[in-house]
Amino acid sequence: MSVGITDPVEAGLGAVVTGFDLDSPVPEAEEALRRAFRASPVLCIRGCKATPESFTRCARIFGTPKRELLGIMRDPACAEISLVERKQGISTATGKAAIFGSQWHTDDSFMAVPCAATLLYGEIVPPKGGDTAFTNMHAAYEALPDEAKSRIQGLKAVHMFQARRNVSPVPERTPEEEAQTPPVTHPLVRTHPETGRKALYLNPNRIDRIADMPLAEGDALLDELIEHATQPAFVHVHGWQPDDIVIWDNRCTMHRASPHEGDHPRRLLRILIEGTVPV
Ligand code: SIN
Repeated sequence: MSVGITDPVEAGLGAVVTGFDLDSPVPEAEEALRRAFRASPVLCIRGCKATPESFTRCARIFGTPKRELLGIMRDPACAEISLVERKQGISTATGKAAIFGSQWHTDDSFMAVPCAATLLYGEIVPPKGGDTAFTNMHAAYEALPDEAKSRIQGLKAVHMFQARRNVSPVPERTPEEEAQTPPVTHPLVRTHPETGRKALYLNPNRIDRIADMPLAEGDALLDELIEHATQPAFVHVHGWQPDDIVIWDNRCTMHRASPHEGDHPRRLLRILIEGTVPV
């Protein structure tokens, strides 16, 4: 059976793949998935009951899985898989376990070589809520007035794990993990290495400041760009169904998790795909 692939559903994101056989994929179907992902930087592969092994195999269709850096998130049985669930160890001011990833962000930007893409597998998802929202950073960049594009061209931002501007709780790191994540500098506008298209490269969680700019001026610019990039016109919201695999391109999207009511568990498996130095 060949796979079915819809167009992106909103904001140029969110195409849905059906009929993909995760257990015995054929090369044509894998190529169709890669093509669909190039056209829709958020892609949902629907109805694939996965094990950690078959999920990792699926990730390899899109590149090389990265070892999860943080011990607190790493699956003890598989170093490429991190577990996304409400966790003890990421606490909030109220003492309640935090919702991981609930502020707009792009994965891994605190690394010198951030991951290219992320796959999430919805192992247990609540019947209502717990959506993941995505924003299209190509579209956000392209919609900027020319004057704003010239103003930000060539600017760089300092990203770090525990950034001055960050408002969300961050997972604990061991001294060894801390030593592997010194502050890094990335361009504010990055060029996609495969398509050559430009995108805003923002991460409200991890950007500490604009390099070589007074703090107040840099903060005002970041606030303005973040507000622009997260307008509803650029946003797609993914409502999870059990056994969805969602892959997104961190080089041209941001995302955030929404809370859900009640005590229904929500457990997702995550794999990051190796990337390249942002330029
Ligand atoms: C993440 O930020 O990687 C997780 C998003 C989610 O839980 O919806």
